[in-house]
Formats: sequence, structure tokens, C-alpha cells
Amino acid sequence: MPAVVVVGAQWGDEGKGKIVDILAEHADIIARYQGGNNAGHTLVVDGRKTVLHLVPSGVLHAGKVCVIGNGVVIDPGVLFTEIDELRRRGCLPHDGLLKISDRAHLIMPYHRAIDQARERLRGEGRIGTTGRGIGPTYEDKMARIGIRVADFLDDEFFAAALRSTMEEKNAYLRAMLKEQALDFDGILAEYRGFRARLAPHVTDTGVYLHDALRGSRRVLLEGGQGTLLDVDHGTYPYVTSSNTVAGAACTGTGIAPQQISGVIGIVKAYTTRVGSGPFPTELNDALGKKLQQDGDEFGATTGRPRRCGWFDAVVVRHAVRLNGMRGLALTKLDVLTGLDPIRICTAYDFDGHRLHEFPASSAVLRGLRPVYEELPGWREPLNRARSLDDLPANAQAYVRRLEEVTGAPMMMVSVGAGRTETILLANPFDGH
Ligand code: IMP
Repeated sequence: MPAVVVVGAQWGDEGKGKIVDILAEHADIIARYQGGNNAGHTLVVDGRKTVLHLVPSGVLHAGKVCVIGNGVVIDPGVLFTEIDELRRRGCLPHDGLLKISDRAHLIMPYHRAIDQARERLRGEGRIGTTGRGIGPTYEDKMARIGIRVADFLDDEFFAAALRSTMEEKNAYLRAMLKEQALDFDGILAEYRGFRARLAPHVTDTGVYLHDALRGSRRVLLEGGQGTLLDVDHGTYPYVTSSNTVAGAACTGTGIAPQQISGVIGIVKAYTTRVGSGPFPTELNDALGKKLQQDGDEFGATTGRPRRCGWFDAVVVRHAVRLNGMRGLALTKLDVLTGLDPIRICTAYDFDGHRLHEFPASSAVLRGLRPVYEELPGWREPLNRARSLDDLPANAQAYVRRLEEVTGAPMMMVSVGAGRTETILLANPFDGH
């Protein structure tokens, strides 16, 4: 029953897309369990760049089945644009290769309108959401007024549910957010137009995955965002509106905890975050700018520049513990080439105390200072390395030190954007 979860150990954008794409070769099925098109996974295969937002990153491998689990929120217009683009590339040759949960919730135009209007009204205090309607869709799921795929396929049910929900949404948009009401007939017609295309993909993906695992098929469960954006364990309220941690792979796909055989964490060799919120090791100087430029740290979804800083071992230890990470895949090590010294944050200082765990309190997060240790850098390019021994001694020492301070062994090290620019140390599917 090999089901391996891949999850981000920082604030997202760790390079999960590339790692999932590589691991997908060893899997039969690749499933997403939460988030929506707030995610952006950039893949470079044979020099060609593909950005995916909803379809799991395994889609570039011929014959693999991709699953969008019940925990994902789906914007149908975005999904179809992505499928069209993939088909132009010769991927997803038939509908059976993409299965969509009948229990997933749909993102509606009023979710996007509410997300964007709230951010505008928050001004300086904004969360910095992607504006894709993710938060309001999860709110409706919890409020039990969301529209699920299975019910969307039933025209009478859908029209009635949409009418009653839109009365409430339009009142809220007008009175609270000072926005214009949205047109019920227009949205009904637009979404009716999506139905025939969505229907062939829709299935009970929980049953499908369960049967596949009983049949010893290998499943890769792909998380969106990262651990520090988890609604419970992240830097609340500057988080996304779903649980991003490995535990959510069960609730977000319908498989049971004992069916998960391993968790691999993706971690960047430094730290980045998009949007607002605490970021203890942020570099607001020329070094931060250099990391941003050298690492091409611009959001795959919104194009926003990512904030950059040193590797934060407190953050990654938090992620290793919460997710039960068996090992880490380190990405973008090559971006650190030329920096000397390189710093690693190993703890925080707050009010005369040394903190070794990531704090919950916003006030503590605002007031703490990172404690750093320094390691010597290297100047050699890394992208030709295919084993740890091929790396310059100082780069090897950096990787080994990261293993020590995070408490997790390295399973992969990525030294460039391409599929082949990777050092594979252990395969998470081995032994299962
Ligand atoms: P939302 O998910 O659009 O509600 O945005 C909430 C926060 O999560 C914002 O800070 C976003 O920038 C961040 N976020 C959402 N998705 C991603 C992602 O895939 N990578 C990095 N940050 C993300």
C-alpha cells in the first residue's frame, strides 16, 4: 500500500512541482489533496516550461492517472484552460487520465469577488492572498453552503442552491464590501456551460484511490502551498484557508492514515514567502534582492516578487515534526553559489529567552530575533553534480549541516531547474 505524501516545509514555492514530477515516474497515480489554483507549480522538461495550477504535477508523464481530491477547491474555467494547454502539448490524451472528486467544492465568481474586495478594503493590513477566491470557498464549505461537484451535475439542485446562496452573497457584497451585485442568470449560464466538460472526469475518487492502493498501485499525494501556510500550524492569520500538512492528505482524498507509507518534505536551500506576514529570517537588503534575482523568485501564479531570506531551521524542524517527514528534498542549492558566508538560523531570541520551537503568538513573532550560525560558501557552479561527492566541499558541508539542524536526512538535492539537474539519494517508494 505505498502512498507517499509530498509536502512543502516552508511557506510554499519550495519547488514541489519539480520533485513531484520526478517522483511521478515511480508512481501510478498522482493526487492533490487541498488548495486550488492559488498554487503554481513550475516544471521545466527538455528546456520547456509549464506552469500548473490545479492539475497534479505528474501530468507530464504519459499514462499516469491524475486525481483532484475532495479537499481541493476547483475553479472550472481555470481547470479547462489548463487542460486545453496540456492537450496542446500532447498530455492528457483522454479524459480518464484526470479524475475529479464528486465531493470537491467549486470556486464561484462571488468567491473571487469577495476575496479581492476584502483585500482592497484591508489596505496595508491585507493578507496578500492570490485573489483566486480560495478563502471564501473554504468558508462556504465549513458553513455548509458550498457547491460540491456531485450536486453541480444536478441542474435543478444547482440552480436552487446558487439562487439562495447568491441572495446572501450579493447582500454582503453590496452592504459590507461596497461592491456591485453579481448577475445570477449570467453565472448560472456560465457554469451550465462547464457541466458537460466536467462530467466525464467526475468520480468517487476516495473509492478509486482505496481500490488502487489495495491493488498495490503506487500513489503520490501532492500538497499545495507549504506547512507555514497551514490554517492551524502556520503564521495565522497570514495563511491559506486549508490544512496543508500531510495529515490533510487523508481528509483531502478519503484514504485512511494507515495507508500513508511515507512523507517527504520539500525545502528550499534558503527561505521565501509571498504575501504578508511574519518571516523571521527575511533579508530586506541587497542580499535579499540578489537571492530574488538569482533564484528567479517571482510567483508562478500572481507574478509577485517573493520575499527572500536565510534558511530557517526552526521553521523546518516545525514542519518535520508536524508532517512526520522521513526525509527532505532540498531545492535551489545552486542559487547560493557565490554567497559567502552563508547563514542558517538555528533558534530565535525573544525578550532574553532562547526559543527552539516556532511560536504561535503574533507579538512574539513580531519581536523575535533570529540566531544565526555561519558556514563558508562556494563559487563553483553545481548544476552538473549528480552525486553529493560531485559538490564542492563547502556545499556538501552545508547540506550535511542542514540535515543536523532539521533532524531529517536528505533524499534528493536539486541543483538546477531541469529534471536531470538532481542528485537522488533515496527513493521514497523504496522498501514498499
Ligand atoms: P490564498 O491561498 O490565495 O488565500 O492566500 C493566502 C496566503 O497564502 C497568501 O500569503 C498567499 O501569497 C499564500 N499562498 C497561497 N498559495 C500559495 C502558493 O502556492 N505558494 C506560495 N504562497 C501561496
